[in-house]
Amino acid sequence: MNIESRLAQIGSVSEPVTGAVSFPVYQATAFRHPKLGESTGFDYARTKSPTRKVLEDAIADLESGDAGFACSSGMAALQTIFTLFSQGDHLIVSLDLYGGTYRLLEQIMSRFGVSASYVDTNDVEALEEAYLPNTKAVLIETPTNPLMMVTDLELVCSWAKSKNVLTIVDNTLLTPYLQRPIELGADIVIHSASKYLGGHNDVLAGLIVTKGQELSEQMAFLHNSIGAVLGPQDSWLLMRGMKTLALRMERHEQNATAIALYLDEHPLVAEVFYPGLESHPGHAVQKKQSSGNTGIFSFKMKDARLIEPILRHVKLIAFAESLGGVESLMTYPAVQTHADIPLEIREKVGVDDRLLRFSVGIEHVDDLITDLAQAIEKAQAELDGGAQE
Ligand SMILES: Cc1ncc(COP(=O)(O)O)c(C=O)c1O
Repeated sequence: MNIESRLAQIGSVSEPVTGAVSFPVYQATAFRHPKLGESTGFDYARTKSPTRKVLEDAIADLESGDAGFACSSGMAALQTIFTLFSQGDHLIVSLDLYGGTYRLLEQIMSRFGVSASYVDTNDVEALEEAYLPNTKAVLIETPTNPLMMVTDLELVCSWAKSKNVLTIVDNTLLTPYLQRPIELGADIVIHSASKYLGGHNDVLAGLIVTKGQELSEQMAFLHNSIGAVLGPQDSWLLMRGMKTLALRMERHEQNATAIALYLDEHPLVAEVFYPGLESHPGHAVQKKQSSGNTGIFSFKMKDARLIEPILRHVKLIAFAESLGGVESLMTYPAVQTHADIPLEIREKVGVDDRLLRFSVGIEHVDDLITDLAQAIEKAQAELDGGAQE
């Protein structure tokens, strides 16, 4: 069945008693056993819970994996994955990546003896150089947050297999509607489902998908043992959001492409980072491995002094820290989402004080361009000393 149909039908054929089209919220932590040694399949909600299970089966199916695990946030999902590793293990990680992932590795996992090297994961020579006898996995964001660097997943997955290390892909920005890393050779997919999967800036959640029986069993053990699981209400809300994922992603992409093109031509903009643009270095790889582009991109203003007034003057676009929802949000990565990444690393990749990240919503594109244009115009007028209002 096509992915659009599978998305729209999440949970709607799974409730056998009443036939409810929307799967119910089973707000229960304990499940009665028929008799000693028998179980309905549900014992205690941390281990398995009915509403969460429908969501977990859905994401495993959508990502072409074998098992799905719903966590209380994207960070909880990453932490659960990282506990696959032990003291002395080493990971190779995308150079440009979400700041919270970097913080978890450098400020927490490092205390448990798990180290990480940060490289451009699209550069196999750099991967070879970073590879150590104790390397256990490669963690890739593609495209990366915020600079939209694209990694060739087939290439890196086959390199990782040749070294017998796991490939973990953070698929938050594209979702299984546009890109399915397991089909390209990855072992684990992770999502901050708080973003496009939820889609409405109203639910915090993380999802993990594993490929292979051994890895799936290991992850089930960790998910239950750590216990950072998603509750039934949030599982339901996330599934409700996912039903419209296909429609939303199409509009996000249309809007983002039009606005990226507009900014690319703008005289006060230095650079636009969006793989949907033909000029982007990752455009061809992105086209090969996904069926479309995400709704988020970054852009660099020519003058850093424009940033503060732009953020003050946007009206329809909210100056706020997340991405992937129906409402447009703009973020300043250097002081918000990526503040925990040291200055020298941020500057090396280009997350500097001129960079803005724009999560383009599903509003009418003309309204978004009008809002952006007036904010940039007012910001420039203030710099010119002709401040209005
Ligand atoms: C690519 C990526 N991965 C993981 C996370 C963490 O997810 P959460 O905020 O749901 O904990 C984020 C959050 O912004 C993200 O952008």
